[in-house]
Amino acid sequence: MVRGASLPTLVAWIASASLTSSLAPHKAPLTKGEPEVFANPAVLTNESHSPHTVEVTLTARKERILLASGKIAEGYTYNGMTPGPTIEIREGDHVIIHFHNELPQATTIHWHGLHIPADQDGSPLYPIQPGKSHDYIFTIGQGTAGTYWYHPHPDVTTGYQVARGLYGALIIRADDDPLPASLPEKIIVLADNRFASDGSVDIPDEASQAGLVDMENGREGNTFLINGHVMPTIGIRSGEVQRWRIINASASRVYRLSLGGQTFTQVGSDGGLFEHPVDMKEIVISNSERVEILVHGTGAPGSTTTFQSLPYDRYAPQTRPSYWDNPIDLATLKYSNEPPVTPIQLPSTLRVIPALDTLTATTTRYFALGQGIINGKTMDMNRVDTRVRLGSMEIWQIENIVGMDHPFHLHGFRFQIIDRNGVPEKDRRWKDTVNVPKHETVRFVVKFDDFPGKWMYHCHILDHEDHGMMGILEVK
Ligand code: C2O
Ligand code: CU
Ligand code: CU
Repeated sequence: MVRGASLPTLVAWIASASLTSSLAPHKAPLTKGEPEVFANPAVLTNESHSPHTVEVTLTARKERILLASGKIAEGYTYNGMTPGPTIEIREGDHVIIHFHNELPQATTIHWHGLHIPADQDGSPLYPIQPGKSHDYIFTIGQGTAGTYWYHPHPDVTTGYQVARGLYGALIIRADDDPLPASLPEKIIVLADNRFASDGSVDIPDEASQAGLVDMENGREGNTFLINGHVMPTIGIRSGEVQRWRIINASASRVYRLSLGGQTFTQVGSDGGLFEHPVDMKEIVISNSERVEILVHGTGAPGSTTTFQSLPYDRYAPQTRPSYWDNPIDLATLKYSNEPPVTPIQLPSTLRVIPALDTLTATTTRYFALGQGIINGKTMDMNRVDTRVRLGSMEIWQIENIVGMDHPFHLHGFRFQIIDRNGVPEKDRRWKDTVNVPKHETVRFVVKFDDFPGKWMYHCHILDHEDHGMMGILEVK
């Protein structure tokens, strides 16, 4: 893939009205026999015996694995798994990740959402060549507990490597987590994928019609995966409250999550818990965003509810898939036959999130999101687009000037949304990605408190990012 060469094609055919994807979504599990029982991804073993230290080993390698297509085909894995094993860390921990790249191509591991030194961030500026190893070393700050994830971030081939199976969860825990430790926890990594007739991961040639549709929409699949499984069954007991940590690891699909219209409680997003829980009936989660929800087991013993994604129109009309308005079944929530338990008491205040004071912001910076471009440009690895003074507080104004949603992500620094289209954000939350819908504007405040160096900001639709919808920020 050559970025410079493919972009003119992209821009040229946005005007074309004839390209539509003809994929129909699979409604039923692809695997035969027993329905899959939900399981959290395995936790990566901590090799360190020192206190407050997490030392783990991750190896990316090519492997023949049983894909959700039902066929054995080649994928990319971390430690033989897709998703990769979950990395569990506590606030204040010193983290050492021994990474080995056994892939036939360069890669990196990006620790999405973490506030760590720029040279440990796994950005495209720090590729790890095939056959090479790298130790990622960083310390986890206080107040950063939350649901994060890791994924490759090499220049131009991020989408390709994620599609082949490279992504995993990373959880930072707090000693003073306000939610009862007795709540059963489910780590739900959402992904979608598409398979060719031989069962292999379908990644079309860029110049083909399917390749062009992927480039415009972002690659979507018609197989829906939770922790690598199709339509798993999540067990719950009547009256029980469960804590779900949900990660959107899809390259481009935006989910509008619903539990059969039942009310659930959102307690957190990208950067951890909110100040106060919020009751919701549905929740939109764009690419790379995370949400934490409490699921209340209000159903009767023996009943089931379907965990679904409702239609969400993020698309440009020209390439909107024909089936976009079908709800998608993701998992079955199945109540056991045991008698109901009394629901646990939940706190009404979770934590205090200090406000970033917009009055002390020194600059408002403007970013226009076009189709595949930011401020009219595609990324150049040798160019710095935005220079920021270390220690400064800034307002970033992100305007989407085209008719398709673009989820905007900033590496390394979490932010607080000020307003969306001029409507002030009600609750204070830590975010690292914000979906900017068609023709809308979002403003956020961010403090560049430490970690000088070069950082990425980009659209998290991986095809857009790979084609250069990314800029470089230098903090110094
Ligand atoms: Cu999820 Cu540039 O990252
Ligand atoms: Cu990131
Ligand atoms: Cu985009």
